Amino acid sequence: MSASDHRDPAGSLSARLREVSFGGHGGGKNWSGDGPGQQDPRFAKAYMRGGLNREGIAAQAAQHFLMYEALERAAELHHERLGDSFEFWLPELHRLPRLTADLEHWIGSSWQTLVRERYNTAGIAAYVDRLNAVASTSLPLFVAHHYTRYLADLSGGLMIARAFRESYGMEGDTGTRFYTFDEISDPKAYKAAYRERLDNAGFSAAEQAEIAREVALAYDLNNNAAADLERRYKEYAA
Ligand code: HEM
Repeated sequence: MSASDHRDPAGSLSARLREVSFGGHGGGKNWSGDGPGQQDPRFAKAYMRGGLNREGIAAQAAQHFLMYEALERAAELHHERLGDSFEFWLPELHRLPRLTADLEHWIGSSWQTLVRERYNTAGIAAYVDRLNAVASTSLPLFVAHHYTRYLADLSGGLMIARAFRESYGMEGDTGTRFYTFDEISDPKAYKAAYRERLDNAGFSAAEQAEIAREVALAYDLNNNAAADLERRYKEYAA
């Protein structure tokens, strides 16, 4: 990065993505409540208020499994290609083994079939298609998806986990391992370091614009997947 390229913090990539995220959460109105941009998020509310049956809880874990399977595969491919110079190789964030344990808990040993068939709805399949199309071949687009998922998990995800465990009366993190980050004792500090990593990664102005656009798309893809759960709400209500 040249000296003339220097940006003040307000113009940094992390600040720009935060702006996109602010919009993605529904203009900021819903950050502590009802989730991003959903019209009538009965599923999301019920999820946090003990209102879903086992199938509904499994359906949410299945969506997470499918998206992280694609995202973490892309991370592995970048890592194989770039080795130690891949700055976003952060296995402490990886969720796949945890989601496997959660799905075994909610569904049992037949979880693979259900996840890949019954729970693999159009919205989640479109998300996975996008990840498979761009995340392993483009570092900026990979970073856009990496940022959107893991910073969400280290923010709203922690609140969701607390509400979920309390409302379903669950001890420890059995069934909700997805939400636990054993190696991250201070999520706030971790997120601050992550934002610095974004800002120091040396992305060009064009790449930064590409990342911001892809983050906005990632919100849409997440919302469309969530809408599939919403459409099946009656099936999933306890
Ligand atoms: C019920 C659902 C949700 C709640 C309650 C929620 C809440 C929050 C909160 C409180 C923050 C903290 C921001 C801070 O550090 O001050 C946050 C950040 C964030 N959320 Fe969410 N969120 C939800 C869903 C989502 C979803 C579905 C996504 C996208 C997949 C998402 C992506 C993000 C990202 C990327 C950030 C970090 C923004 C940044 O600092 O750059 N969130 N969320």
